[in-house]
Amino acid sequence: MHLRKQLHVKIPSFKLERYFAEYEFGTKYMLSASDCESMTIGELFTFAETDLSTLVDTHLGYTESRGHPELRQQISHLYSEVNEDQVLVFSGAEDAIFCIMNTLVKKGDHIIVQFPSYQSLSSVAESRGIEVAKWKLDERFEWQLDLEFLKKNIKSNTRLVVVNFPHNPTGTIMRGSEYEELIEICEKNQLLLLQDEVYRFSEFTANVALPPAADLYENALSLGVMSKTFGLPGLRIGWIVTRNNEIYQKLAQFKDYTTICNSAPSEVIAIEALKIKDKIIRRTLKILRYNVHMLDNFFSTYSHVFEWVRPTGASTAFPRLSLDQTVNDFCTALRTEKEVLLLPGSVFDYPSNFRIGFGRKNMEEGLSKLSEFLEEKGY
Ligand SMILES: Cc1ncc(COP(=O)(O)O)c(C=O)c1O
Repeated sequence: MHLRKQLHVKIPSFKLERYFAEYEFGTKYMLSASDCESMTIGELFTFAETDLSTLVDTHLGYTESRGHPELRQQISHLYSEVNEDQVLVFSGAEDAIFCIMNTLVKKGDHIIVQFPSYQSLSSVAESRGIEVAKWKLDERFEWQLDLEFLKKNIKSNTRLVVVNFPHNPTGTIMRGSEYEELIEICEKNQLLLLQDEVYRFSEFTANVALPPAADLYENALSLGVMSKTFGLPGLRIGWIVTRNNEIYQKLAQFKDYTTICNSAPSEVIAIEALKIKDKIIRRTLKILRYNVHMLDNFFSTYSHVFEWVRPTGASTAFPRLSLDQTVNDFCTALRTEKEVLLLPGSVFDYPSNFRIGFGRKNMEEGLSKLSEFLEEKGY
């Protein structure tokens, strides 16, 4: 019998994660990562001027299921309208998304999700029989969302709107005035709003940064994480911030069935990192700005091969391949011939684009291998 039938697995496979599971750690030049430059525990503690004994003395018992009180307090400082009791810590953003899609929506509901998106933002709900309307970003308009689509697609059973800014994979950010209108629409129609803010603080210039949704709207959930701008995905620490206590309690109860509580050492390390958040953000932004400038030059040299929409935040962009061949074939040839890993857009159901990641210091090496590949092919 087919394994899928045997196991009664209803959720589709996570295309992006399966692709990385196969190639990420075996390919020399990672040119499609979504995270920013990471560091060792030792480097972080030196950077934070903290003694390693803080970590060594960490008690390895169960921790508070809502998250370490000091961690929740540090996280609450990232927002202006919330306190530590409105912060719920999860094992990464992924754990939070899974809990949200299993508690706040039910079969028969309708949700509207920005597209392309990190797959779990739509797949978990879809697998539970929830109707998902895909709210597509438009490449012709620098990957912006059209609010008219949202207004036209709200139905009597619409419960939740999901957005993600700064956005993976395009690196786009909604315009401030439209973001305000989005919140007004949600408020007027009594819709929950999930804003996946895992790339917050990665905006290249301060004027494009959006305020966290949870600060602006009581029925919003702001999703944050240590993985992206803070460069610490190995901690697996994420959080939801919401001022709606009913939502908060539902999520806390469901989490008892996923991870119960978080990793004690990870919480302690995250506290130390958040104490020096400005320093870490500056370090990340320096890398992002430098790398995006390199990409500008690269894509202007190869404008006959790619269409480049410049990102305004995050650590990923989503160029289009203009050659007469599939993106999948292009990425496979690049990987096998030059050991460079790009992510084909087919994992986002956008087969003409690919994701390039520019959050890491060694991006330059992968990019020069990509140039070498293009030159050898005569493009
Ligand atoms: C937009 C977005 N949301 C959520 C996640 C999940 O984050 P984490 O790996 O920290 O669980 C990712 C990871 O790539 C992401 O890009």
